[in-house]
Amino acid sequence: MEKKLEVKNLVISFRTDAGKVQAVRDISFDLYKGETLAIVGESGSGKSVTNRAVMGILAGNGMIEGGEIIYDGQDLVQISEEDFHKLRGDKIAMIFQDPLSSLNPIMRVGKQLTEAMLLKGRASQRNARKIFNGKLKLLNAAMDEVAQGDSAKVSENNGKCHTFDTFCINSTKLESKYNEIHRAAEELQLDIDDCVFLLEKKQKVDIKAKVTAFVKRVDSTLHPDIVVKDEQLTELLAQLSESGNVASAKIHEGETGYVTETLIPLLKQLSGILGQACAKDKPNYFTLGYYMMRNPEANLDNMPIEELTEMTRKYLDEEFMLGFIDDGAQGLQYSHNKSIALKKELLTATDEVLEYFRNEQLDKKVAYDKVNAIAKQEEAAIDRLEVIKNSVEYTFRSSIHSALKKYFAGLAKNPKEERRFERQTAKREALIAKGKTPDWKVVPAALFDLELGRKNIRAVLHSLRASIRKDLDSDSAYDAKAKMVNLIDYLKEQASAVVYKVTPKMAKAKALKLLEEVGIPEPAIRYRQYPFEFSGGMRQRIVIAIALAANPDILICDEPTTALDVTIQAQILELINRIKAERHLSVIFITHNLGVVANMADRIAVMYAGKIVEYGTADDVFYDPRHPYTWALLSSMPDLETKEKLEAIPGTPPNMIFPPKGDAFAARNKFAMEIDFEEQPPMFKISDTHYAATWLLHPNAPKVEPPKIVTDRIERMKKKEAESNG
Ligand SMILES: Nc1ncnc2c1ncn2[C@@H]1O[C@H](COP(=O)(O)OP(=O)(O)OP(=O)(O)O)[C@@H](O)[C@H]1O
Ligand SMILES: [Mg+2]
Repeated sequence: MEKKLEVKNLVISFRTDAGKVQAVRDISFDLYKGETLAIVGESGSGKSVTNRAVMGILAGNGMIEGGEIIYDGQDLVQISEEDFHKLRGDKIAMIFQDPLSSLNPIMRVGKQLTEAMLLKGRASQRNARKIFNGKLKLLNAAMDEVAQGDSAKVSENNGKCHTFDTFCINSTKLESKYNEIHRAAEELQLDIDDCVFLLEKKQKVDIKAKVTAFVKRVDSTLHPDIVVKDEQLTELLAQLSESGNVASAKIHEGETGYVTETLIPLLKQLSGILGQACAKDKPNYFTLGYYMMRNPEANLDNMPIEELTEMTRKYLDEEFMLGFIDDGAQGLQYSHNKSIALKKELLTATDEVLEYFRNEQLDKKVAYDKVNAIAKQEEAAIDRLEVIKNSVEYTFRSSIHSALKKYFAGLAKNPKEERRFERQTAKREALIAKGKTPDWKVVPAALFDLELGRKNIRAVLHSLRASIRKDLDSDSAYDAKAKMVNLIDYLKEQASAVVYKVTPKMAKAKALKLLEEVGIPEPAIRYRQYPFEFSGGMRQRIVIAIALAANPDILICDEPTTALDVTIQAQILELINRIKAERHLSVIFITHNLGVVANMADRIAVMYAGKIVEYGTADDVFYDPRHPYTWALLSSMPDLETKEKLEAIPGTPPNMIFPPKGDAFAARNKFAMEIDFEEQPPMFKISDTHYAATWLLHPNAPKVEPPKIVTDRIERMKKKEAESNG
């Protein structure tokens, strides 16, 4: 499965007057394409802070002290502000608990939707052009390398790439023109049907103005592949104009029969023509664009679409595409081989650098020189023509730099900390020697674990090595032709984005579609209303529509239903589930109530005091929970069926300015052992999908069963599951 987002060893703190709040303390998780990851935990556990960091909207006093957030081969912690803004709210969108806070109270909701689209449209157009040109240039260069200085071949390559460039953009232009006109035809049909509906209901309508507008609007629907203005249509429009005038006069005189007998049938006839036109197949503009470029004089208007597509496809393949794929594939193979050869060298070099970091003593200059040299070598070995970016490769430099920085900061800090500890101890002992009892204790030396620091550096090198190994192992499976076809598809997508101009009119059409998609009835009316005119549930739907406007890959929902009553809550959950499936979104769903995510999460991360304490599939966590905190959450989960009394989790979460030394949950955990107060438990692996950080999983720990309320609940859930499976 494709990873959409990787969070690795994230550490986040806030500076406050009272001290440093350690809100997120080294958490890691992955989000896969098309899945819902639930993050569950009590208030203050760090759920929102984690996701705000992903969105790049931490409060001003917040700082990311360590770790990586990797999206599309980029570390969001490291990338420039400008790039970050492009991603957030574009590829990654977030909705909050209180929909009102995300809406502008004095702007109509329609405008709030279209504004976002118009702004985003321009930025993504620029970006797509950059990607399109960059990749095509790289491909051309690789093809030229294959030509080995054969100047005829080089100029042939240039010609091919140029042809591809021109006709890609031309085709998408033709296509977007078509789309625009198609939409106009659809809208006109809808408006005519609305008008007919009102007339049939004997509602007051300004017939003359309406009919005149309809007749005029037909012009915006004319296109050889949509509506054609033939004799029949011209005749119909003339009749319609006239009967609009007549009907208007007759209504004035109180006579309604004419409208029903003459005007309505004419309007229905026009609506029918538009409907049929819209239902026609769409030509393949990619192939057609090429044909028209080569045969600008050709008139294909009367060719049936299927035949047209077949003919133009064949023409494109024979005249251009097959040859281009062959040449391009050779270029890709060349680029791939070069990358593989460099990776082989890189593997040896990585081993050498790894060897250095096994030393107990590291020299800062030597370490940085080695790391910079290997990063340079690594970056040269990346095959930039691969469409899917390998995040290990693309983030190697920033990952290893951050590990080095941590290590050397610790190295510099430890002696100071030791001196402080010695000084205070000496002072205390001196006081005691004088017979006094100091009312203060010596704060233990908080030393940075240098060995762990070096291990972290090596871990980055190890993961690079694993990634190279994988590439070398799968080398024989490299299929250059298939890759070339993929690359062409990718370039085509970028080309469509380049010419995808969002006009205010299109933005409105898209906004109406979005409102409909999120289940808002009568979008055309609602479009013109202000947020206060909507109920809480409807407002949350609008916020979701705004989030979807930029076409995100990832949707982060931070307690989106907490402020809503139970039935509305269920509807919003259903909506999120539906759009997730329809749009293949990856969703992070934050909640303090495990019950909410029972039917929607694929995987669950349980957070407590800034750490992930249990992590697994929904089945792992619901049917085989291991952490006492997860048990507590399960016991406090409202159960609609048995109406049993909730068992509130006793105690309160710790103060995150002074997080506990051991397991942060120990003080509230009736299963806590001595070690829980002393040392933080590591993540124990229970299965390939299931992990939990509790000393209870240590092989030497006593066997402890979950509380009865939890085991009973599991039994009930299993029974229910079995029943629903028949
Ligand atoms: N700007 C800030 N300054 C100081 N501390 C902060 C700031 N923002 C968050 N925190 C602290 O960080 C910790 C985690 O907060 P976070 O908002 O992530 O909790 P949460 O799990 O989302 O809880 P809730 O369920 O209440 O939304 C809390 O201790 C909180 O007090
Ligand atoms: Mg929160």
